[in-house]
Amino acid sequence: MIVCVCRRVSDQQIRQAAAEGAVSLECLQFELGVATQCGRCADCASRILGDARAASAPSSLPMAHLQRAEQAA
Ligand code: FES
Repeated sequence: MIVCVCRRVSDQQIRQAAAEGAVSLECLQFELGVATQCGRCADCASRILGDARAASAPSSLPMAHLQRAEQAA
């Protein structure tokens, strides 16, 4: 799916950038040019980046549960 019509950037390109270390919209703007013209794609691109980063960090969820359990004890 094309996310950024102006720069012809797809969701797959954003997911790939996330896998390669992109951590913010600014990173996507620098690497892919997404949201650097009309800006209408910024929210969607940020959401896809966030989803991709969350999906690629499966160990963070168990750690969060562990920290909450320690705080409750
Ligand atoms: S749709 Fe991405 S900058 Fe216009």
